[in-house]
Parts: sequence; C-alpha cells; structure tokens
Amino acid sequence: MPTARRRVVVRAPGKINLSLGVGAVDDRGYHALATVFQAVDIYETVSATRADELSLEVHSEVPGEIPLDESNLALRAAELLRTEFDLRDGAALHIHKQVPIAGGMGGGSADAAATLVALDRLWGLGLGSEGLRQLGSRLGADVPFAMLGHTALGRGNGADLTTVLTHGEWTWLLAVPGGHLSTPAVFRRFEEIATGGGRPPVTHPTVDERQLQALSGGNLELLADTLHNDLQAAAFSLHPGLEPVVEAAEQHGALAALVSGSGPTVAVLVEDEAQARSIAAGLMSESLVESCLVARGSAAGASVLEEE
Ligand code: C5P
Repeated sequence: MPTARRRVVVRAPGKINLSLGVGAVDDRGYHALATVFQAVDIYETVSATRADELSLEVHSEVPGEIPLDESNLALRAAELLRTEFDLRDGAALHIHKQVPIAGGMGGGSADAAATLVALDRLWGLGLGSEGLRQLGSRLGADVPFAMLGHTALGRGNGADLTTVLTHGEWTWLLAVPGGHLSTPAVFRRFEEIATGGGRPPVTHPTVDERQLQALSGGNLELLADTLHNDLQAAAFSLHPGLEPVVEAAEQHGALAALVSGSGPTVAVLVEDEAQARSIAAGLMSESLVESCLVARGSAAGASVLEEE
C-alpha cells in the first residue's frame, strides 16, 4: 500500500485545441471528436491537506465566477474517489487559478485532474496513471488530457489520447473577451448550424495530417495554415464579440487565430513574445478583449510540485 501524505500540491495545465473536428453525437450525448490538444504553461495549482471534512477554497488570478457547490469539478473529483474507494477521509482543497474560467481552455478539467492526482497521493490510493485517467474521463472529456499534457491527438469524445511528436515550442497569445460560453450550448448550436445547412456532421471526423507534420517538423507557417475549429461558427453566433477578435488579431499580423475549444478564449499563434505583446496592446486598445495572456506550448501534464 503506498504511503499516505499530510499535504500534496499538484499543478495541471490549461489547453488549447489546434484543431477540433466534430462529428455525430453518440448515444451518451457526446460528439465524436478528432482533436489535437496542446497543453500551455498556464496552470491550475491544487493543494490538498489532510482534514476531517472535505472543503474547497479558490484563489483566482482571472475574472469570473467559480461554483463552490457540488457542481465544482474538483469537489466532484474528490467525491468520486470517496465513493469508488468507500472512504470517509476528508481534505482541505485549495485551488490557485490562472486558466481563464469557462473559456474553452479546460480550466475546470485541469482542476479535476490535479485534484485526482493530489488525493491519490494524500490518501495513499496508488491508482497509477492509467487508473487516474480512467476515473478522470468520467468527470469530463478533457480531464485525461490535463493529466497527460504535451500535445496529443484526442479521439472518441476526446478522452482517447495518443501523444503527438513535436519539435520546438510555440508561442500563443490567449485573448480573453468578456463573457463566457457554455460548452453544451456551443455543441447544440453546432448541431443547429449543421442540420440547418443540410450538412449533418460526419460519423468519423479526421485530423488534417499536415497539422501532425507541422508539429513534428516545427513548421510554424504550416501549423498556422492548419489551425481549425469546427465549433468556431457556433461560438461566433453565440458571442458577437468573438469574430472581431479573430479578425483583428490577424490584421495585427498574427500568423493565425482561432477560437479555443468551445470558446470564448481566442488562441493567437505568433512568432515570439514581442509580437504577442504588440498584438495584445492592439486588441486591448480597441477594447476587443478583457485580458490577454502570453503562453508557451507544449507544457507537461499534471505534476506533483510538493509533498510532505
Ligand atoms: O466533457 P465535458 O463535461 O467537458 O462536456 C460538457 C458537455 O459538452 C457535454 O455534456 C456535452 O453536452 C458536450 N460535449 C459533447 N461532445 C464532446 C464533449 C463535450 O457534446 N465530445
């Protein structure tokens, strides 16, 4: 039996989707995906300390409301472990948030991933990475990727992962417009647009092979050319402030810009940090966005920072 700990600190990265192909819905209400995730160096850090009860505190560097009730993914992760292992152990959880809230960057999923990894060690469960990923997939399609990190191809509902070979680093400007988008609402709008246009989603979406070549060869121009999100039109139609951000980023010289996941964060591919800062200044001065972050990919998945 692995040793239980008194306190464990784990961080897990936010993600962007370099491509997101969406197919038909399955019988559990999930859409078939073919997506390329990239983890970026913006993190959710969860500290878990032994306690009699389960509790949660959040300290956020980003604007927005975080639910602190049982819908919170970190609390759901803890409850899932307690149910699965028939435990009565408690934990005082503290989350330090850096990933934009409800922004399409998997912040809630990173909370769940970091919490599972932290409590596995705190409570001495010894689940191992495969066991953790399987439990994670029950909390959300993006949770296993927050554990794995780096760059990966996601199939099925997104939780079936294969690491993608990459060469070099990529610099992203993450432009965060005001307002949030609900992931289920964006998927529903995607359906309406597809059905209304007489082009129902394909059964098996695919990833553009050229994107995988761009990643393995470190080819920035080719990567820019292959960034694609099937949910983008749906996100644009639900959030009127979004399309102007993508257009303005490109006018300001970005290699490419696209909505990340279900949005509304816009991922802007740039040459370097200096270009990111100049585009951010343009977007902020035109009042198109609420905040901007500069990030690098790929970043490692959930990692233990401290334990005692
Ligand atoms: O997996 P997650 O809980 O983040 O998904 C939130 C919602 O987004 C799902 O309940 C579903 O409505 C939608 N979704 C989907 N297909 C996916 C992933 C998410 O329809 N592959």
